[in-house]
Amino acid sequence: MAKILVTGGTGFIGSHTAVELFNAGYEVILLDDFSNSSRKILTQLKTITGQEPEFVELDLCDEAKLNAFVEQHPEITGVIHFAAFKAVGESVQQPLKYYRNNFYSLINIINAFKSKVNLVFSSSCTVYGQPDVLPVTEDAPVKRAESPYGNTKQIAEEILTDTCKVTPDLKVISLRYFNPVGAHSSALIGELPIGVPQNLVPFITQSAIGKRGPVTVFGSDYNTPDGSAVRDYIHVVDLAKAHVAAIKRMEEEKSESNYEVFNLGTGKGSSVLEIIKAFEATTGEKLDYKIGDRREGDVEQVWGNVTKSSELLGWKAELDVNEMMSSAWKWEKYLKDNPF
Ligand code: WQD
Repeated sequence: MAKILVTGGTGFIGSHTAVELFNAGYEVILLDDFSNSSRKILTQLKTITGQEPEFVELDLCDEAKLNAFVEQHPEITGVIHFAAFKAVGESVQQPLKYYRNNFYSLINIINAFKSKVNLVFSSSCTVYGQPDVLPVTEDAPVKRAESPYGNTKQIAEEILTDTCKVTPDLKVISLRYFNPVGAHSSALIGELPIGVPQNLVPFITQSAIGKRGPVTVFGSDYNTPDGSAVRDYIHVVDLAKAHVAAIKRMEEEKSESNYEVFNLGTGKGSSVLEIIKAFEATTGEKLDYKIGDRREGDVEQVWGNVTKSSELLGWKAELDVNEMMSSAWKWEKYLKDNPF
């Protein structure tokens, strides 16, 4: 079976994808520089899969080291590229850090494989901004990004589109994630936010476990059923399985062109208040929350049209919001007794 390189392999989505690749019979090499993840994830993955994961500590911006590594591993046929900085707020404060890291690492990977590889790129629904039509399809117009982070995803997709046009041996699938949440059923891996969580669900679980104060609902005056903003939350395990489907599609030469884009969501929107209610109903925990002002840069509502992913990737999200909340809570409780 082919060997797949997973960059950012000890990160939130990378580690869950490593498990699903293993389950699908792939050999995997994880690559990370631990700039936004913990080495302990490697031990956790060994417990989950029963195998010591093959791992290389490497900064993708170190072109010489990356080229040497790829040279030594001709057996790698596919790359799933997660490694990137992804904190929206931090990207506003440190744009150059984001542009340098996120573009330089992507370009180095393409060059290291001499533009002959199957590449799955971790993109984001953030490229859509506030869509004009919902649910949003892959051919919706890309709107001006609200943050340098979002801009790095848009420009990275342009880099890949332009390169694929003149490089037939480079096959790429960009996966546009909606909102990844939840954790592996073992509660041995999950989201590991550094500092105060910016994202809703890790803030909810940290508030419920007593690490944070009340949850603030950023805005209740949106033009949505209950006034709070709507997102398409997707279980990280469903998301991970979609990456295996994308690699398979390219390996089996089913791609309609050498650059394809797919939405990865459930096709269903949930509001902030609905997520809070689902957390309380699923876990039995009472959440302390208050209504606050809107957050700068937030879109009002977005959820994905996932027909193309279902028809061409043969993939559909299967886990519902309750499973997202219960797995996220189980992971938070595990972290309390086993701090990373
Ligand atoms: C979700 C909703 C907030 C925190 C971002 C990135 C996206 C992807 C996922 C990387 C919004 C509200 C949040 C809180 C709240 N990241 N909220 N109180 O902003 O939709 O997407 O993370 O791939 O690319 O843009 O996710 O979880 O931050 O917010 O009310 O304490 O929850 O306003 O409506 P977001 P989020």
